[in-house]
Amino acid sequence: MNTLLLAIKKIHTACLESLALSTTLESLEQVRVTFLGRKGKVSELMPSLSALSLEEKREAGPLINDLKKNLEFLCEQKKQTLVKERLSAQEELLKDFDVTAYTPGRMQGSLHPYTHVTHILTTLFSSLGFAIVDGPEVETDFYNFEALNIPKDHPARDMQDTFWLKIPGLLLRTQTSNVQIHEMQKNTPPLALISIGRVYRNEATDASHDYMFQQCEGMFIDKHVSLSHLIGTIKFFLQKLFDNKTIELRIRPGYFPFVEPGIEIDASCPFCTQGCSTCKYNRWIEMGGAGLIHPHVLKAGGIDPETYRGFAFGFGLTRLVMLKYGISDIRLLHSCSMEFLKQF
Ligand code: PHE
Repeated sequence: MNTLLLAIKKIHTACLESLALSTTLESLEQVRVTFLGRKGKVSELMPSLSALSLEEKREAGPLINDLKKNLEFLCEQKKQTLVKERLSAQEELLKDFDVTAYTPGRMQGSLHPYTHVTHILTTLFSSLGFAIVDGPEVETDFYNFEALNIPKDHPARDMQDTFWLKIPGLLLRTQTSNVQIHEMQKNTPPLALISIGRVYRNEATDASHDYMFQQCEGMFIDKHVSLSHLIGTIKFFLQKLFDNKTIELRIRPGYFPFVEPGIEIDASCPFCTQGCSTCKYNRWIEMGGAGLIHPHVLKAGGIDPETYRGFAFGFGLTRLVMLKYGISDIRLLHSCSMEFLKQF
């Protein structure tokens, strides 16, 4: 019994000493675990109870309990003190914090001009019931040329200088017209869609050419499709894109093996009536190619040319973006320069 009393006293003193030494909440927790934990010093007293007589047990039991309660109280008390100390240390730190101090403005991102025009066009064409689709940039000879009525030795291949990949038959698409065939194969008419994306041509770079640019392809296939549907659609979207300005179209015959008849479309300059630097004092701006889909192409896409007709157009999205925002050099548009992009 005496040994137990001595042990209780020792634990009490040791705990007081440890508490006095602990200066952080973390070290206090260590002390609590050492003395009051499941395998702590107070619990270790329990087995020695069994060696005592019943009477001694009656006396010793409450003593151990008192010790436990007492130590719990002391730990809690110390905890309160340390929490208070920590809070006032934080307050001290924040005392000189000036909420009115000047901070440099946060840099905010903005949409790329390509993204702006893509949003405008996809919204416009969706409102006309056109689907927005995507196509592969790495393409096979079949989808980029053959199925578009441009067989292997056709001179029209020279119109678009091609980046061929090391794997035979694969290339970087030179036009978004590849999407026409993919979509014809996947769907049955009526079919109305646009597709916007990158195309690649092996050309020298200057202010108006780059080896990569973007196109917007449109296609509509149904039973009674005519050139007037095509022209109406193009006039509508150009006028909307250029803030409802009146835009006239000039239609010239043009050759693209995948359309018959094929046309090239010029639009009256959205910015002048007499000629300006944007239209190079010409009044007309070349917009892109279009036409009625050639029966060979419909066939390659699995659509019966006896029943269906369609129109297709391919506009330079890059050119539209440059016109809309008055960007005179394509290299700026593709530069990722923050100075340039900040303006949009
Ligand atoms: N793909 C043609 C080009 O890149 C444009 C075009 C598309 C012409 C659809 C006619 C019909 O030049």
